[in-house]
Amino acid sequence: MDVENANCKLKVSQCTDMEILPIEKPLKVNHEIAGLERLIEELHGIFSRSHVNVQDVQKLMAGYKSDPKDWRKYAKFDRFRYTRNLVDVGNGAFNIMILCWGPGHASAIHDHADSHCFMKLLSGSLEEIRYDWPDDVQPEVLRTIKENANTGDQNCDNHTAMSTDYNDSCQRQNDSCQGDSHMNSGEEDEDYYDLKDMKEIGRTRLEVNDVCYINDALGLHRMENPSHVDGAVSLHLYCPPFDSCRVFDARTGRPTQVKVTFWSMYGKKIKRVIEANDAVDSQ
Ligand code: SIN
Repeated sequence: MDVENANCKLKVSQCTDMEILPIEKPLKVNHEIAGLERLIEELHGIFSRSHVNVQDVQKLMAGYKSDPKDWRKYAKFDRFRYTRNLVDVGNGAFNIMILCWGPGHASAIHDHADSHCFMKLLSGSLEEIRYDWPDDVQPEVLRTIKENANTGDQNCDNHTAMSTDYNDSCQRQNDSCQGDSHMNSGEEDEDYYDLKDMKEIGRTRLEVNDVCYINDALGLHRMENPSHVDGAVSLHLYCPPFDSCRVFDARTGRPTQVKVTFWSMYGKKIKRVIEANDAVDSQ
């Protein structure tokens, strides 16, 4: 099975028969979706099934043409860093959120907690920078596949080798800072990571209405608003939803488990809970 038919109701590591193949480019849009509300309804529809193809989600997201009047109420910016604004919790099967990026704002290099991540540009432009996993940190999905190869696959009947063709849904050139985020640091690992820059494997510039997909088998990434003057707004769908992931130090590859938080929910700014961990929030 290729990634387009992978079942995104499942964690990526449970799709053990998934082979990473290039995603159809350009995505063929089957039908136009009239408005963000309609898109969310259609997503609820396909996620009520037991099997949801990655490509079906991408096509739905591509079928919606961004209109600020649909999403303006969720687009709440902060001066200092990008914000995560919850739009819908998808009956527990997925989360939809709108992220607002001020000029120069960026996320830290992070994984996707074994979930599927879809992203659509609503306004402005963003750059996606992809990285290889550090040598000494294995994603759950690759560990599971190795284990299944040793013990015989229990989840799927048909499991094929995983290719490491990372280059499918995004790429482009350039360099910049490590980002700041609403990803709040939990614990610090021991300080035994040597200085060794994380390996960049691709860059892609996303323009309005572009859709992009990543999961842990495809690598790690960070997003950046390259503009010094304009904001950017993106729509993200994570399935299954997750409330923590790992961020990585770009110079050493050292991972830190972090909680992810929201700046607003359903269009209403939420009160910020001050935690001891906030002290290490931005690097
Ligand atoms: C991203 O950089 O992909 C966004 C991360 C987030 O969900 O906060």
